[in-house]
Amino acid sequence: MNVGIPVEVSKGETRVAATPETVKKLCALGLDVLVQRDAGRLSHFTDAAFQHAGAKVVDNERALAADIVLKVRRPEPEEVARMKNGAMLLSMMALCSHEDILDILAARGVDTFALEMIPRISRAQAMDVLSSQSNIAGYRAVLEAAYLYGRFFPMMMTSAGSAKPTRLVVLGAGVAGLQAIATARRLGAQVSAYDVRPEVKEQIMSLGAKVIELDLGESGSGSGGYARQLSGEAQARQQHLLTEELKKADVIISTALIPCRPAPVLITEDAVKGMNEGSVIIDMAAASGGNCPLTEADRTVTRHGVTLCGNTNFPALMPGDASAFYARNLFNFLSLLITPSEGRLQVKDYLEDEITASALITHKGTVRFQEKK
Ligand SMILES: NC(=O)c1ccc[n+]([C@@H]2O[C@H](COP(=O)([O-])OP(=O)(O)OC[C@H]3O[C@@H](n4cnc5c(N)ncnc54)[C@H](O)[C@@H]3O)[C@@H](O)[C@H]2O)c1
Repeated sequence: MNVGIPVEVSKGETRVAATPETVKKLCALGLDVLVQRDAGRLSHFTDAAFQHAGAKVVDNERALAADIVLKVRRPEPEEVARMKNGAMLLSMMALCSHEDILDILAARGVDTFALEMIPRISRAQAMDVLSSQSNIAGYRAVLEAAYLYGRFFPMMMTSAGSAKPTRLVVLGAGVAGLQAIATARRLGAQVSAYDVRPEVKEQIMSLGAKVIELDLGESGSGSGGYARQLSGEAQARQQHLLTEELKKADVIISTALIPCRPAPVLITEDAVKGMNEGSVIIDMAAASGGNCPLTEADRTVTRHGVTLCGNTNFPALMPGDASAFYARNLFNFLSLLITPSEGRLQVKDYLEDEITASALITHKGTVRFQEKK
């Protein structure tokens, strides 16, 4: 049985779905590993390092024609056309938009596992690509903010006088938000954070940040560790109360999202107008419309004197670690799917395990994703 790792073709993507470390493990499992030439170039893993780890370096055709294909980003139709009937695909699939690729994969007879569908349960933590990549994104977003903001983050006392610490607000204290808080604290900013789920208060405080509390008249906690959609009235109240808080911020890192929903507007144009000239907003929800209506996806713009960054792929700016974490998540997931038995590799019944069954979105020619929504 072989596994292929093609070059990622999505614009701006620098990550790769395997590293020399995971190639070694895949080979030890008994798989033949086919890495496309230059697949690791942008994340600084050389072909020689892959070969040394046991991989064969091949062309795009051979990598995509493998029994199991590992990818970072959802494949393009022309990539699917090169996959073989009965192959398995393990990838992030960005499922909330352009779902027609699922029909194409099903028609091709590919069994697709969307890694973002892995349930957030303890047994699956080592496979949780959303967490590993959001963690990196939260860290990198704060570095971007520090770069775009023309002042110190920490309080500075110098012979030329002192500088005040940056007042940084994090909106949404999930995986990316908590890492943003931790990173901003390490850089010495004065951090406060807001989340609609009251249960994250303690986590915010344990990182040394102040909690922004708003009385919305209803709870925002949903199921599975996610927020739920607020009523229209509560949303309006939230925007109104936050606007006053946000006008005092020098930097905002916003991460608020409910999966497959447009991002809630938390930073109104009024709030932006009220911020000081030179302030910075990093809107990590830009791919879903943004937490600020002035955000433009994948652009950095200045509006009312405030710099707004809408980068939708911060992990791609840290491709070495982002690929290393992602590739380990993938290997751990793949270990659930196949098992060595009597000197041969067997594919397990993936409908039997909660983790593999949840991630399976096309199977034996049919699309299963709609059933899961
Ligand atoms: N730009 C990038 O490179 C990048 C990378 C990774 C993740 N992201 C994005 O960052 C965001 C966060 O990702 P995550 O993995 O941390 O998700 P998460 O689900 O762990 O966190 C989202 C948080 O937002 C909170 N939230 C939802 N609605 C809210 C509201 N109305 N008010 C306040 N808080 C609210 C939730 O309670 C949750 O704590 C998502 O939009 C994700 O797509 C962006």
